[in-house]
Amino acid sequence: MAAKRLAVVILAAGQGTRMKSATPKVLHRIAGRSLIAHVLDTAAGLQPELVVAVVRHERELVAQAIVDHAPHTVIVEQDEIPGTGRAVEQALQALPESFDGDIVVLSGDVPLIDVATLQPLIAGHAELGRGMTMLSAVFANPVGLGRIVRDADGVVRRIVEEKDASDDERRITEINGGVYVFARAALEAALSGVSTDNAQGEKYLTDAAARILAAGGRVDAVSTEDTWVIAGVNDRVQLSEVGLELNRRIVRAHQRAGVTIVDPASTWIESDVSIEADAEILPGTHLRGATSISSGAVIGPDTTLIDCEVGANAKIRRSEATLAVFSEGAKVGPFSYLRPGTELGAGGKIGAFVETKNAKIGDGSKVPHLSYVGDATIGIGSNVGAGTIVANYDGVEKHQTVVGDAVRIGSKNVLVAPVTIEDGVYTAAGTVVRKNVPAGALAMNVAPQRNIEGWVAAKRPGTSSAKAADLSATSPEEEQGNRV
Ligand code: UD1
Ligand code: CA
Repeated sequence: MAAKRLAVVILAAGQGTRMKSATPKVLHRIAGRSLIAHVLDTAAGLQPELVVAVVRHERELVAQAIVDHAPHTVIVEQDEIPGTGRAVEQALQALPESFDGDIVVLSGDVPLIDVATLQPLIAGHAELGRGMTMLSAVFANPVGLGRIVRDADGVVRRIVEEKDASDDERRITEINGGVYVFARAALEAALSGVSTDNAQGEKYLTDAAARILAAGGRVDAVSTEDTWVIAGVNDRVQLSEVGLELNRRIVRAHQRAGVTIVDPASTWIESDVSIEADAEILPGTHLRGATSISSGAVIGPDTTLIDCEVGANAKIRRSEATLAVFSEGAKVGPFSYLRPGTELGAGGKIGAFVETKNAKIGDGSKVPHLSYVGDATIGIGSNVGAGTIVANYDGVEKHQTVVGDAVRIGSKNVLVAPVTIEDGVYTAAGTVVRKNVPAGALAMNVAPQRNIEGWVAAKRPGTSSAKAADLSATSPEEEQGNRV
C-alpha cells in the first residue's frame, strides 16, 4: 500500500496566561530552542507535504518565530470563535482541496512529542482505516485534562473535557494527550457539526471523536507509557520540568552515542550541540547553541561554551567561551573568559584569568596567565608573558595588534594598538610597546634601575621595614658569610 499523504497542524493560538509573561508561551525556550521550534522540528521529521500553524494571541511575534525557524510553514490566523476545534477547522482551509490524506494535530506547548511516538500512531491509523486516532495515557492524577470515555467493552465512545464531565467521568484516569491523527474527510465533516455548547463555550476538537463514531467512522486511543511526550507547558514550573526532562533525553542520547558524561544532573546540553564519541564532559558544564566537540576533547568541570568549535583532544576547564574556535590539542583555563572571535591554534594555550576577544592565537602559541588580548593576531609558537595587556581601545576606536611567530613578550607588557611586533622579537618585562618592533629586535623602554642605599633607614626610621633591613644587615648568615 502506498504511504498516505500527510499534513501536520500545530495549534499555537492559545493565550498562555499562566506563564505571567510578556513573551508568548510557545516562544519560551528549553534546550536552546522555543517550545514551538521543538514541535516544528518534530513535524518536519515526519516529512509531511504541508505544515500549518494556527496563531492568534501575539500573532506577529509567534508567526515570525515560526517562519524564522521553519520558513515553509503555512500560518493561519484563528478568528474570534474559540477552541481547539475551531483552530483545526481553520487550518483545514489552508490545505489544498485535493488533499485527501491524514492530518496530525500537535500543540505548540507540548514540546517533547517525537517522531518515534508519532510514526507508529500514524501507521496504525492508516492501516486500520480510522477516522481518528489519539494518543492517550493513564494518569493517577488526571486533573484538568480531557478523559477518554470507553464503553463496557473498552471501545472508545467520546472524549469529555473535565469541566463538562460527570463525577463518574472525572474518575476516569485515561486522559486525552492532545496529539491526534485524523483522516481529512472524516475530520472536516465532524467539525462542521461541532458546536460551542459546553462549559467553556468553545468549539472542542475533542468533540470530533463522538461525531466521527456517529457517522460510522472508526476512532481509537493508543496509550503511551512515556507520558513526557504529551506533557504540556502551562506555567514556569512545567517549563522547567519539561526542560529538565528534555535535557535528560539529550544527555542520554549523547551517552548512548559514546560520549562520557560524568554527571547528567549538572550537565546541560542544548538541542543543536554535536559531540563526537569519546569526548568527555565533566560536571557543571553547559554546552549551548551550535557548539561542536570533537573526539578526545575534555570539557569542564564548570565550563560554559556557546556556539564554540572544539577540536580533537582539546581540554577546556572552568571557563566560559562564546563563538570561539579551539584547534586540536588546545588547552584552556582554568578561569578563562573567551569572547566572540577567539581562535586558538593547535596545541595552543589560554591560561588562568585570561580574557580574549577577536583574538587569533596561532598554533603552539601561549597566553598562560592574567592577560587581556583583544583585536589581535598572534603567530605560531609565540609566548605572551604573565600580566600582559593588549590596549586595543583608545577611548574612541578599536585598533589591531599583530604579533609574529616565535615572539617572546615579557611579563606585564602593554601592547598599545595599532602596533606590529614582527617575528622572533623579544620584549623586556614591563615594556609598553607603542612603536612597531622589527624582526629579531629586543624592545625595552624601562629606565635603568637605581638603588639608593640606606634610603629606608634615613627616610622611614623606626618602621618595620627599617627594622627588618637593620636585622638583615647583621644576620648570622651574613656574619658567617663575612667570615669566609
Ligand atoms: C486540550 C484537550 C484535552 C486534552 C488536553 C491535553 C480540547 C478541547 N481539550 O485541553 O482533552 O486533555 O488538551 O493537553 O481540545 N488552542 C488554539 N486555539 C484555541 C484554543 C487552543 O490554537 O482556540 C491551542 C493552544 O494554544 C494549545 C492547544 O490548542 O496549544 C491546546 O489548547 P488548551 O487550551 O491548552 O487545551 P486544554 O484545555 O489543555
Ligand atoms: Ca493545555
